[in-house]
Amino acid sequence: MRVLLTGGAGYIGSHTALALLNAGYDVVVLDNLSNSSPEAFRRVEALTGKKAPLIIGDCTDGDTVRAVFENHGPIDAVIHFAGLKAVGESVEKPLDYYQNNLDATMALCRVMPEYGCRALVFSSSATVYGVTQEMPLREDFPTGCTNPYGWTKWISERILTDVAKADPSRSFVLLRYFNPIGAHESGRIGEDPAGIPNNLMPYICQVASGKLDHLRVFGNDYPTRDGTGERDYIHVMDLAEGHLAALDYALKNSGVEVFNLGTGTPYSVLDIVRAFEEANGLTIPYEITPRRPGDIAVCYADASRARDVLHWQAKRDLKQMCRDAWNWQKHNPRGYGDK
Ligand code: NAD
Ligand code: UFG
Repeated sequence: MRVLLTGGAGYIGSHTALALLNAGYDVVVLDNLSNSSPEAFRRVEALTGKKAPLIIGDCTDGDTVRAVFENHGPIDAVIHFAGLKAVGESVEKPLDYYQNNLDATMALCRVMPEYGCRALVFSSSATVYGVTQEMPLREDFPTGCTNPYGWTKWISERILTDVAKADPSRSFVLLRYFNPIGAHESGRIGEDPAGIPNNLMPYICQVASGKLDHLRVFGNDYPTRDGTGERDYIHVMDLAEGHLAALDYALKNSGVEVFNLGTGTPYSVLDIVRAFEEANGLTIPYEITPRRPGDIAVCYADASRARDVLHWQAKRDLKQMCRDAWNWQKHNPRGYGDK
């Protein structure tokens, strides 16, 4: 069974590639390396002892995608990670986001049937739920977004739904990720953000390593247990394993299905700081600052649908997420070092 991973050199893609190779799948990666390093993929090969071609190219270009199917087929399924993902940047450069993220989805939709490939797993996001009061979030809740990045996920979900309606032989699984953190247990692959991290865990890791001075906690006046924002953090290896379950489902079924991939447990920013300190025996200095514009108070999943239908649930706890995040940062202070 051979699977094409678009964006497979990135954070979630590289961890999923590792899980797929270990499970006996053949893997082909198409990545333009706009936000990743080929070193990630070399390490995946070293960790698994298996070879997987990394094709450096753009997924928005139909001919490039066609060449991958032509030269590296037969491809049985696609996991579509490729996309730009920085919320703030998407507000500044909306056209770049719409063009990259939507053209990539459409190019795949066009080329796949030319090669008899009908199954695709898509990286969506909890951000498609927009601002809603009711938690935990269930897949059938209303959707809507607050920034161009979110809309690219929302519109991609729409495109895939319409394409599957027009051709009922197709099989699309839309995965709405919550907050992936952590790294593979080996510490050889992990998250390598360019510049100063936007997200909480990579920021904490860089404070721990001395690269950044202290954490700014964005607001302690939210209507939450301790006033700081609550999120559903999920270990990236659990997320990777969720893709294996989703892939299996996509190959055996047709139509469109949506699943939340989260743990169902919310943790506050201060919970994360404390857990990181305890797991790693370190102190994370922080100050409370005003809220970050656009942030919501609480966001966590009802993860029961993935459990009941995909027979998957997250296994790794917060301590392990914190330990593995730091293990990666500690051993790779410059990330993959060549960006
Ligand atoms: P990432 O940036 O590490 O990985 C994305 C990969 O796609 C990168 O390697 C990048 O080089 C590649 N890419 C981008 N545009 C491309 C194109 N046109 N052609 C080929 N390759 C291209 O991000 P990630 O955290 O691994 O996220 C993977 C997917 O999951 C993305 O679609 C992202 O939007 C989605 N997602 C991520 C999170 C998160 O918190 N990390 C949450 C929800 C959804
Ligand atoms: N936070 C801080 N300080 C920081 C960074 C974050 O206090 O330096 C707080 C935030 O205010 C929030 C929590 O930590 O309460 C988590 O923030 P992240 O930036 O790590 O994650 P978000 O939930 O804001 O965003 C993530 C993804 C987005 C996606 C969104 C919804 O990064 O791409 O989830 O799914 F759109």
